[in-house]
Amino acid sequence: MTYQTDRLRDLVATELGRARDRTTLLTESVDEGDLVRQHSPLMSPLVWDLAHVGNQEELWLVRDVGGREPVRRDIDELYDAFKHPRRDRPQLPLLGPGEARRYVATVRDKVLDVLDHARLDGSPLVDNGFAFGMIVQHEQQHDETMLATHQLRAGAPVLDAPPPPPATSAVEGEAFVPGGPFTMGTSTEAWALDNERPAHAVDVPGFFIDRAPVTNGRYAEFIDSGGYDDERWWSAEGWAHRQAAGLVAPLHWERDGDGWACRQFGRTSRIVPEEPVVHVCFHEAEAFAAWAGKRLPTEPEWEKAARFDPATGRSRRFPWGDEPPTSERANLGQRHLRPAPVGAYPAGASPAGVHQLIGDVWEWVSTDFHGYPGFVPFPYREYSEVFFGTEYKVLRGGSFGTDAAACRGTFRNWDYPIRRQIFSGFRCARDA
Ligand code: AVJ
Ligand code: FE
Repeated sequence: MTYQTDRLRDLVATELGRARDRTTLLTESVDEGDLVRQHSPLMSPLVWDLAHVGNQEELWLVRDVGGREPVRRDIDELYDAFKHPRRDRPQLPLLGPGEARRYVATVRDKVLDVLDHARLDGSPLVDNGFAFGMIVQHEQQHDETMLATHQLRAGAPVLDAPPPPPATSAVEGEAFVPGGPFTMGTSTEAWALDNERPAHAVDVPGFFIDRAPVTNGRYAEFIDSGGYDDERWWSAEGWAHRQAAGLVAPLHWERDGDGWACRQFGRTSRIVPEEPVVHVCFHEAEAFAAWAGKRLPTEPEWEKAARFDPATGRSRRFPWGDEPPTSERANLGQRHLRPAPVGAYPAGASPAGVHQLIGDVWEWVSTDFHGYPGFVPFPYREYSEVFFGTEYKVLRGGSFGTDAAACRGTFRNWDYPIRRQIFSGFRCARDA
């Protein structure tokens, strides 16, 4: 979809503001010690994410789009994600909390001035406000990463949110998606990132897919039936990792009598059997699926189940249609601090009758992260292209911690198949 220029400036300013409000919440809810500390070797200190968000905004919007003088050229190297792996970032001479806050505020003031004067057409970088949209999504993606850092943080809770809505419909079993071509990816979505492009036809044979993500209750059955000790269910690579890492249950789960409890943002409580399981790695998802007599969906299967409208033959922006997410349709945006029970979002179902594809938990699919046919890196190779290959698996649909600005039916996330500090779950599929 495309925007009119006058409305577009307002939309960009609103979205930049929403992202910054979230960043502020995530960085002001902890003390200075927690901002500079490394809560896990897998994560950056929160104060690195904060200044990195400002630095990317400076590079793209102040210098490139705005053509303005640098705010601080001296720190570019410190906040280049490719120069320093996450585990090394606490040792860098980073901006302190106060300096980082002043830096991002200075950059933002300049960006709002750039926004008032910039052309929002005439080049692919600015058409429909793309560069601004990319920076909004970048900040929201780091906000989700910071939320995962909060989840790894020890100590008393600092974040609060209302509980997710209850189930209002019974969602059981599988949906059948008939074979035939559908349009995967997009060439028209204004703020779609390079890896979502271009739209292309994919012929997907008929398949069955679970109408809901796999729940804690089902996952506990897998554990209690000895699934982690039975090599049959695991790939060779998955079994080797399960052994080396000593996996016995999802991350943040602990035994509670004869059941399970899990720790969420500093609070420990019994698992809720009806909620989608979260914090599992690709290998655990794959093992569960084998145990259940199924498999993970491929990426085209996931997207067809989410977007294909058999009545019109076209692909929708979202499972429910082309309109943006609302609180009735999906659990997004850190509105709740956990996935909602299966059946909580009947208004978000796809034409195939598949629920909770958007929001709740990122869903592992069986496909490696590759560029679509006709892929063109834009605006920089380091956003997607350098990650293409067999090392990364794709995740789809967004989680409760993903903002609507960085989530749609075509959106692609990726990570190593051993990662589970992210808000990752899955659903199963099988051949027809
Ligand atoms: C798309 C979530 C894998 O966090 O590494 C942030 C997004 N890219 N800064 C990541 C991203 C550059 C990316 N993921
Ligand atoms: Fe980044």
